[in-house]
Amino acid sequence: MKPNSDIIAPIDKLAQAEEYILSKVRNVPDTAVVLGSGLGYFANQLTPNVILNNRDIPHFPQPGVVGHEGKMIFGSIKNANLIAIQGRSHYYEGKTFSEITFYVQLLSRLGVKKLVLTNAAGGMNPALKPGDLVLLKDYINFTQLEVFPAGQIPKQPFSESLATIAKSVATELKVNLTEGVYCWTTGPSYETHAEVQIIRDLGADVVGMSTVPELLVGAYLDLHILGISLVTNLAAGIGATPLTHAEVRAVADEIKEPYSEFMSALMHKIITNEA
Ligand code: HPA
Repeated sequence: MKPNSDIIAPIDKLAQAEEYILSKVRNVPDTAVVLGSGLGYFANQLTPNVILNNRDIPHFPQPGVVGHEGKMIFGSIKNANLIAIQGRSHYYEGKTFSEITFYVQLLSRLGVKKLVLTNAAGGMNPALKPGDLVLLKDYINFTQLEVFPAGQIPKQPFSESLATIAKSVATELKVNLTEGVYCWTTGPSYETHAEVQIIRDLGADVVGMSTVPELLVGAYLDLHILGISLVTNLAAGIGATPLTHAEVRAVADEIKEPYSEFMSALMHKIITNEA
């Protein structure tokens, strides 16, 4: 399996970013979590050790929107060490796949083995409602953009052992975690009514504008990957009113506490389990 050559970030850029991080952090944890938009509250649950601003990391792609600067937080949950990443880049910001997946390639260089990708997503499956959590078992590339050449994509990029841990934590905490398929769209527009019909017919449970490029590059780099969507809305076309970004963020904000509690327990178990 080989990616397109322009997906892999230039080695000297990755090396400079790595060098900067290693000058600030002594022991790099082997587990990282990416906090989806509106899901940054989880970072408050961490005991921070070193917090880096992404803009200070050489070559780290900067967000298109000013005021949305990201951070890389090296911290712990009950003495279990992890990295939390805020401020991923999206295709709709005009970023290349090399930029979107830069942090994944950097984490891999730093020795990270387990990566949890979270995102805010629209619920396609009528059984889902805002606030629900979905464990991703597969994805649909609705963008038709080629992250990897045809026939070369990882067959099953999600880790079964991490999914098993997620299910057991959900059962322990009595959190409803259903399994589902994530449909990746380019954004920035939400789906039309007609697109919602098609995407449902394709078998997607949730829809969003992130995660898949990182998933594919991470799988190529042999990372164990878990994907979790927080349903922030009924997909446009299912709900009664037009969807706005503010609505998506408001729902994420409303359920931030139970969500963060689940994520803390999940990350702790992933870090301490020999997956
Ligand atoms: N569609 C696409 N992306 C999203 C949505 C949605 O309904 N909600 C949050 N991200």
